[in-house]
Amino acid sequence: MTDYREEFSSKIGLIVATIGSVVGLGNIWRFPYIVGKNGGAAFLIIYIILLVLIGIPLMMSEFIVGREGKSDAVNSYKKIAPKTKWYFSGVIGILAAFFTLTFYGVVAGWTIEYTRFSILNKFINNSSQQNTNMFLDFISHPIKPVITLFIAMSLAGITVSSGLQKGIEKVSRLIIPILVVLLIILNIYSLSLEGGKAGFEFLFKPDFSHLTWKSFLIALGHAFFSLSLGMGVMVTYGSYIPDRENLFHTAIKVSIADTLVAIMAGIAIFPAVFAFDIAPSSGFGLIFMSLPNVFSQMTGGYFFSIAFFSLLFLAALSSTISILESIVAYLMGNFNLNRKISTFIATSLTTLIGIVASLSNGPLKHIQLYGQSIFDFINNTSSNWLLTTSALLAVLFVGWNIDSNIIENQLTNNGTINKKYIVSLFKFIAKYIAPIGIILIFIFEVLL
Ligand code: TRP
Repeated sequence: MTDYREEFSSKIGLIVATIGSVVGLGNIWRFPYIVGKNGGAAFLIIYIILLVLIGIPLMMSEFIVGREGKSDAVNSYKKIAPKTKWYFSGVIGILAAFFTLTFYGVVAGWTIEYTRFSILNKFINNSSQQNTNMFLDFISHPIKPVITLFIAMSLAGITVSSGLQKGIEKVSRLIIPILVVLLIILNIYSLSLEGGKAGFEFLFKPDFSHLTWKSFLIALGHAFFSLSLGMGVMVTYGSYIPDRENLFHTAIKVSIADTLVAIMAGIAIFPAVFAFDIAPSSGFGLIFMSLPNVFSQMTGGYFFSIAFFSLLFLAALSSTISILESIVAYLMGNFNLNRKISTFIATSLTTLIGIVASLSNGPLKHIQLYGQSIFDFINNTSSNWLLTTSALLAVLFVGWNIDSNIIENQLTNNGTINKKYIVSLFKFIAKYIAPIGIILIFIFEVLL
């Protein structure tokens, strides 16, 4: 292993690459729906509080481990705390990344097919039943979703194998501006829809009656997923952050961008859904089965649908890239492999398991693991268990184990930036508030 480590080329490079990771299917598909289901603005308020109290400090913790260890998600722990077992946080994170990637790639593939459908104007003249069937036929097809999975993973693989600056940064610099423009166009369009006001209210009118204890935990779990925590991604990216950059400010900027995109996605989706009298139904159904009905009815729906699905595809792709990078950095750091070979191994293995996950929506539907399809089993195990365990260990490590001076030096860049109280506040949160919050999620997963 060499000591040379690539770094982000500039502040902009760092920010766009990190935003590329956090902004994904979580923002555009999942967030609007869970906000709607949990009382709109009331839930939004809780989400933002938990994001500030736990999400941002957790991102800072992963950054600290990465920048201090200057290595991949596993070796960073080994370097900071040699001869201890803390590196298990990294191992679990890499496992989470591996399994998440297998189904994330499948869904990224779906967004490719749906971009193609919208360009070919496939939704027009379809009844809602036909749109539903189109989706179910596609995802259960033995070959088509495997091809789009392959395309999505190849694009991610090519990017990651080209390196940090020439691959990930370059692609993010291209994707993020397009993403912002598409979102703004979709928002303007959506806000001008007649009858869309109900959708706006659905999203922003606080309704505390839908709020339950469970909502808090859903909000926290989503904050982790949306901020790309618990998979070694932010540890790995932290190791690429130049020493002059401010970790606290970076975490804040990225989190604000992530939340804004999520809210804008909600503004793009719900007014349209309500204006055309479609139930804000759950899960992927909303995006892939219900929205096409909206597109086929609205003026300009053709362009709206192309913009929407390209947005979804770009967001999914840039997140796929970051999860792959976490695994590739691990292979490079632990098996002495170069970037190209590591990327090839990681991409092939995750694509192979991805094929099984994809087939479990069709020909392999009958195979059940603990009462779920392979696809759902992988999805649930990695997001509910592996991700939270890795995140918990990361914050316990920083809160309880790491030398206090390391935290101080990392957050103040050796005393040159940030006030003392930010460091003290961070330490307090990392020690008590964040671990307790995460343990509550665990108890929730087990008991409810
Ligand atoms: N944050 C992305 C989203 O919202 C998904 C993602 C990318 C992710 N990298 C991650 C989630 C690492 C957890 C950990 O869709």
